[in-house]
Amino acid sequence: MNFSLPVLAPSILAADFANLEQDITSALEGGAEWIHCDIMDGHFVPNISFGPAVVKKAAAVADEAFIDVHLMIEHPEKYISDFINAGADLISVHYEACVHLHRTLTQIKQQGAMCGVVINPATSLSSIDPILEEVDLVLLMSVNPGFGGQSFIEKTYERLQKLSEIRDEKGLGFLIQVDGGVNLKNIRKVAGAGADVLVAGSSVFSAKDITARVQEIREKLSDL
Ligand code: DX5
Ligand code: ZN
Repeated sequence: MNFSLPVLAPSILAADFANLEQDITSALEGGAEWIHCDIMDGHFVPNISFGPAVVKKAAAVADEAFIDVHLMIEHPEKYISDFINAGADLISVHYEACVHLHRTLTQIKQQGAMCGVVINPATSLSSIDPILEEVDLVLLMSVNPGFGGQSFIEKTYERLQKLSEIRDEKGLGFLIQVDGGVNLKNIRKVAGAGADVLVAGSSVFSAKDITARVQEIREKLSDL
C-alpha cells in the first residue's frame, strides 16, 4: 500500500449509478486513492445496494485505486471469493454478522485480500479485542449502517481515540477507518482524532464538481 495517511475513500453508494464510470473517474482525477464499495443485502441492513458485478466494473474503471469492499450482509463468508475475484483489495465484515469471525477473517487473508472488521455504533470496542492481531483494518461505523447521507454520531470521536490507544498499547499496525456522515465540516476533526481512512459518500458525490470536491477534501487532510 503506497498512499500517505490519512486517505479519503469515496463511497460509490452515493454515486450516480447511471454514470458510475464518470463519477469514479472524476473522483480519481481529484486524487482519490481508495474506492469504498458498500454492499447491502436487505437483511443485515434495510437497503439492497449492489454486488460483485458492479464491484468488478468499478475496479476496472479505478484500476489504480485500492478497492475497499464493506460487506453489510448476512453470511459474508459465502461471498468472499466472489468479491476478491471482482477485484477487492480489502474486504471488511461486520462483527455483528459473523458467527465465526476469526475463520472468516482468515478466509479473506488466505484468498489474498486484506481483511477488516467493522463494528456498529452500539458495539463495544472490547468485543473485537480478541481478533485485533488478525486484522489489517478496523472500521468504526459513525452512522447506523444501511444508508448514505446520515449524520455523524459524535460519540465516534471518543471511540476513535480509545481504539488508537489500544492499537498503540498492543503495538499493532491495523488501519482505523471511519464511515458515515463524514463531510467537509468534520473531516479534519475525524482525522485528527485518529482516523487513517475516511469514507465519504454524499459529501463527495453530491457535489456539482466531484473532482474539485475531492481536491478540496484532500487539501483539508494534506497537513495532517
Ligand atoms: C453506510 C455506509 C457508508 C455510507 C457513507 O451504511 O457504510 O459507507 O455509504 O455515506 P455518507 O458519507 O453519505 O454518510
Ligand atoms: Zn461503508
